[in-house]
Amino acid sequence: MLYPQEILEEVRVQNDIVDVISEYLPLKQKGTSYFGLCPFHNEKTPSFSVNSERQFYYCFGCGAAGNVYTFIMQMENDTFPEAVKRLADRANIILPEPQYTQQAKEQEQQKQRLFLLHKQAGRFFYDKLQESVGEEARNYLQKRQMHLNIQKKFGIGYAPKGKNELYQYLQKQGFSQEELQKSGLFVEKKEANEYFDRFRHRLMFPILDIQGRVIGFGGRILSSGEPKYLNSPETILFNKSKNLYGLNFAKNTRKREIILVEGYMDMISLYQAGFKNVAACLGTAFNQEHAKTLKKYADSVILLYDSDNAGTMAAQRAIPILVQHGFQVKVLQVPDGKDPDEFIKQHGAETFSRLLVNAVHYIMFQIQCLKKEYDLTQTQQKVEFTIKAANILAKLDNDIERTVYTAEVSRMTDISPQVIESEISKIIIKEDMAFMQDAQQQKKMQYSKNKNEITKAAGILSAQKDILYLCASNLQVYQKIKTILSAEDFSEPIYQKVYQKIEELYQKNGTIFPAELVNYFELPEEQKKVTEIFAVVLQYHSLKAMEKALTEEVRTVKRASLNQHLAQLPLQEQSEQTDEQIKKWVAEKRNVDNLYITIADG
Ligand code: GTP
Ligand code: MN
Repeated sequence: MLYPQEILEEVRVQNDIVDVISEYLPLKQKGTSYFGLCPFHNEKTPSFSVNSERQFYYCFGCGAAGNVYTFIMQMENDTFPEAVKRLADRANIILPEPQYTQQAKEQEQQKQRLFLLHKQAGRFFYDKLQESVGEEARNYLQKRQMHLNIQKKFGIGYAPKGKNELYQYLQKQGFSQEELQKSGLFVEKKEANEYFDRFRHRLMFPILDIQGRVIGFGGRILSSGEPKYLNSPETILFNKSKNLYGLNFAKNTRKREIILVEGYMDMISLYQAGFKNVAACLGTAFNQEHAKTLKKYADSVILLYDSDNAGTMAAQRAIPILVQHGFQVKVLQVPDGKDPDEFIKQHGAETFSRLLVNAVHYIMFQIQCLKKEYDLTQTQQKVEFTIKAANILAKLDNDIERTVYTAEVSRMTDISPQVIESEISKIIIKEDMAFMQDAQQQKKMQYSKNKNEITKAAGILSAQKDILYLCASNLQVYQKIKTILSAEDFSEPIYQKVYQKIEELYQKNGTIFPAELVNYFELPEEQKKVTEIFAVVLQYHSLKAMEKALTEEVRTVKRASLNQHLAQLPLQEQSEQTDEQIKKWVAEKRNVDNLYITIADG
């Protein structure tokens, strides 16, 4: 942990969760809780609740949960230390110097060295492009009409033909064998005990992170051949699922709208033509991580993918991810099977900008794709198309948009808008019912006491949660439980840690505030799990009832733990020692059956 717990708690207390969340979305008060539309999934009716007393948020729809730190981490895509920094600034608290662990310090140094290595490699490629060996590559760039200022801005370079020119160059610059290996820029030939440059005789595109530091490269072949593009592998600097090519430049336009393209050349071409809010995802399909990265800089996205089959499919797959993250999504396909780069080169920026205004709402794109599969002059096909189109339209929350696109479908099919509307309503009702049934089914699964393993496991987990809840809310309960359960009796590492922290916090403060407990965990997933323990208030109509429930739950947990111990014993090496151990566990199991927990009143 970078900061002492006292500071983390101070920053948390100074940032009231209701105030902080209200800065992102409107909340309506109901008692000590506040409700709003969940920012982490798409919904029409508010299921996102914020509890001002407990300083937690919880979404009944998607299960998102946590304290004010978790919210900021999820909302801003921050790491834990970044969220602490942000909230400290908000409350005008000056943070002490972060306390890095030795390991973190070393990793940071390693990263800094790799940044330097990549910077120098970029410089090397750039210089080679200007030298006489770079002539072929320079001619290629000229053929593709990439201006000199743009080449410079993007740091375009050339990787020479020799087997390890870059390797030798960087070695001379003082980089160690290990550093060179970790950079991903070299390929080891084990037999010869030699390193080869990964990129040879290629046009080089440095890949920059959002701060403009080189973290990897893409290399294009100069003639025809395979592979056309070669990318750096994943390293401690380069994460393909998070990085978007060109986003470091695009973000400076502050447009909150990003044009998303498929390749390096498309990205650069658009930029050169004056459309600077453009980025490309490289080597991998657009995914959740990309969406999170993009969310910091944009609210709306224009998908500008190739109009071939692959491009259309890629766009279709990106749409739900973008929609789920709350982006406005439009799609643009350039005519006559060209890619954006070719189109701009042929028709110019002016024509392209006219095309851009005509990007269609993603719903319209989906309907157009669907339409290609049907022959609307055939009655039966027309009916099938209309039903499928209604299913797509049913996903639209906005009534105005739905009316507009329903009218479009009506025009395509000559079926009246009212008829299509009524089909859409039926679909919406059906989906809502299915959702409700699903929820009820899940509830039933949780409560039914059949022998089903899943239910049993869920029962053990929920017993652990209840025990932790009661321990944290009542010192007397904890003191009792402490004599029966040790941390190892909890099956989840995270619950073990919570149990230990409960002890620590009682020692320190005498009482426990659940939102503070969450501070001890750095990952949103962990914070969510801890919050879940406290999200639902446990109420018992009497002390007796509480004791009874607690007893059942402690029995469940202890039994599961002992069974686990027994199951893990190696069968082969039975010794006297293991015999003893087994006897002890079996005896303990018998004790569990006789266990009854009583808590003194008061
Ligand atoms: P140009 O031919 O230079 O205009 O490239 P392009 O962007 O038109 O290429 P294409 O549409 O074929 O590919 C789009 C993107 O997919 C490229 O920019 C690369 O990021 C990636 N890509 C294409 N070919 C390969 C390949 O052979 N290997 C890898 N790893 N990626 C590729
Ligand atoms: Mn191209």
